[in-house]
This record gives sequence, C-alpha cells and structure tokens, in this order.
Amino acid sequence: MQTIGLPEPPPAGEHALPAGTFDGTTVFITGAGTGLGKAIATEFARLGANIMIASRKTEHLDAGRDAIAAIGATVDTTPCDIREPEQVAAAFDACEVRFGLPSVLVNNAAANFPVPAEDMSPNAWRTVVDITLNGTYFCAREFARRHLRADTPGSIVNVGASYAWTGGPGFAHSAAAKAGVKNMVETLAVEWGPYGIQVNGLVPGLFPHEDMTADIKGNLERTSDKDSCQPALRVGRLRELGWAATFLASPYARFISGHTLVVDGANWQRRTLTNPPVVTVREQMGKGPFEG
Ligand code: HXC
Ligand code: NAP
Repeated sequence: MQTIGLPEPPPAGEHALPAGTFDGTTVFITGAGTGLGKAIATEFARLGANIMIASRKTEHLDAGRDAIAAIGATVDTTPCDIREPEQVAAAFDACEVRFGLPSVLVNNAAANFPVPAEDMSPNAWRTVVDITLNGTYFCAREFARRHLRADTPGSIVNVGASYAWTGGPGFAHSAAAKAGVKNMVETLAVEWGPYGIQVNGLVPGLFPHEDMTADIKGNLERTSDKDSCQPALRVGRLRELGWAATFLASPYARFISGHTLVVDGANWQRRTLTNPPVVTVREQMGKGPFEG
C-alpha cells in the first residue's frame, strides 16, 4: 500500500463548465491583480465574463489587466480601498459605466501577516479586520443595494480561510475576521435570497503563488515540506480554485447559497493519533522572548 496522495487535476486550460458559461456577464473582483484573485478572475474570463478588478495599487491593477487581456478577454480596472465605502461606491459606478451592473461579486481582497497576538499593535488588529471583514461587507452591501434597486439577481463569492472554524495561531486578527466573513455568508444568503442574490464562501487551502507577501512567504518557508505536510500530499493548483469559484457563481449552482466550500484536500480536518509537542507561535516564528 503506497501513499500516493490526491491525484493531480486536469491540465491548465481545461474548463469545468461549458465554454461561454459567463458570456455577456460582468464579474467585479477585488484584489485580482495578484495571486488567487488573479487566478479566479482568469477562469471567469476564460468562460466569457468581462472582468472589473478593484484594488489599491496601480502595479497590481496593471498586472491583473495584463493577465486577463493576454487571454483575449475584456477587462478594466478601478482603484479602490475597500475599507472606504465611498471608494467602493465609486468603483461600482466605474464598473456600471464600463460594463453595466456586475452579476457576480468576488470578495477576494484581504490582509494578513503572521504575528504573535501579544505583539500585535491595536492598529495592526484594526487594519486587518478593517480590510478583511469590513471591506468585504462594504462591497457586498454596495452590490446588493444596486441589485435590489434594479430587481436583478446576482451572486456573491466571499473568499475565506479555514481558520474561521479552527482559530489561527499566529493569525489572530485574520482568523477572527475570516470567521466574521464566514458568518456573514450565512446571514446575507438568507436576507438577500428573496431578492435573487446568492451568497457563498470559498475557502482555499494552501495555494502558494508568486505574489505572496514576504511575510506570508517567509512563514511558509519556515516549514520544511509543504507537500508532505498536507493530507493530499500536495498543495492546491491555482486552476482548482478557479474551477470552484466559477462553479459557485454559475447557473449550475443557483440553489447553493449560504454555503462555504473548502478547497484544501482535507487539510483543515487534519488531526493526529498522538499529539506532537507544543511549539509556541514565538518559537515557530523564530522570535525571542516577549518584551512587552
Ligand atoms: C506586525 C504589522 C506588520 C507585521 C504591518 N503591521 N505589518 N505588525 N507584523 N508584519 C502593522 C503596522 O505596524 C501598523 O501598525 C498596522 O499594521 C498597519 O500597517 P500599514 O502598513 O500602515 O497598513 P496598510 O498600508 O493599510 O497595509 C495593510 C497591510 C499590508 C495588511 C499591513 O500587509 C497589506 O496591504 N496587505 C495586503 C496583502 C495581504 O495582506 N495579503 C495576504 C493575504 S493571504 P502601527 O501600530 O505600527 O501603526 C491570507 C491567507 C493566508 O489572508 C493563509 C496563510 C497560509
Ligand atoms: P495576495 O496576493 O496578497 O492578494 C491580496 C489582494 O488584496 C491584493 O491584490 C491586494 O491588492 C488586495 N487588497 C489588500 N488590501 C486591500 C484594500 N484595502 N482594498 C482593496 N484591495 C486590497 O493574497 P492571496 O494569497 O492571493 O489571497 C487571496 C485571498 O485568498 C484572500 O482572501 C486570502 O485571505 C485568501 N487565502 C489565501 C490562501 C493562500 O494560500 N494564498 C489561503 C487561504 C486563504 P492591492 O495591494 O493592490 O490593494
């Protein structure tokens, strides 16, 4: 009996949905100039969607635009800090002028860095919660209010993290914020279902990518072997997340709402028969003693 791990998915470039599933529709996606957001936006674009990317930094917006344009799809970008409701409204205005009201919102943008909870400054806590939880709500609110006024249906996908359920040692701010995001999926799906708005969550497992922030990358590099530490014996492939996101927002998933889909090869359910020794977050991060 060999430990072969979970099989590799079909190659990049294959579709999980029929070609043209999103023809004529617009997807508004936050933080899609980098990493997972860019991968998700790419898959929507390959299925025919127009893409509007919203985030803060010009270099990220340009990278996202280039990636989508390279596959021949229609894309535009709008600067937006999702912590600011007025900027969120202006970004949706820009989308409506360019493409019309988007029928899909992907709340992908988030903030995170590893830090022992006792070291975290109040502003560090506020910043991560403000981007990850408040920003997600502001975008969802703007999207829903426009659809309610127009009497049109829509679909929201909020990108989460599995420490929403388990807690996240070293990520107290982000874990608490993502728990809020997961809970919000459940509330908004019920409140807005009657108006035709579906709300779901999508939780990536470990999906390393070239745009990871130095903090997150450094944290990953401190672990010796990412593949052998996963029950799947491999990390996620970006296209696997794109397929899951597009399915959730597609006509084939209309009766799925209030659900959070975890795409992580069962990593978050992992328990061991015997407990490994406890290593504090400070030690895991190579930090010295707490100095107050
Ligand atoms: C401790 C830190 C810190 C760090 C910032 N701060 N980085 N504290 N360790 N590494 C503190 C600052 O000192 C400051 O507090 C406060 O946080 C705000 O910092 P700013 O730089 O002023 O904030 P801002 O410019 O708004 O930038 C937000 C950011 C930044 C979160 C700090 O990293 C960012 O823009 N991130 C976006 C991309 C991102 O985070 N991606 C990760 C997503 S991955 P003081 O008290 O000094 O004022 C993810 C899941 C990963 O979410 C799962 C891992 C397996
Ligand atoms: P990433 O590359 O760092 O992307 C984060 C994006 O969010 C950036 O493009 C950034 O763009 C945008 N953003 C940050 N703050 C913003 C703000 N205030 N306003 C608007 N946009 C903002 O991270 P990622 O790894 O792709 O993560 C994407 C999502 O997956 C996040 O929700 C994350 O929590 C989740 N996730 C990732 C993993 C993983 O393995 N990578 C695992 C679990 C969950 P600007 O800098 O241009 O604003």
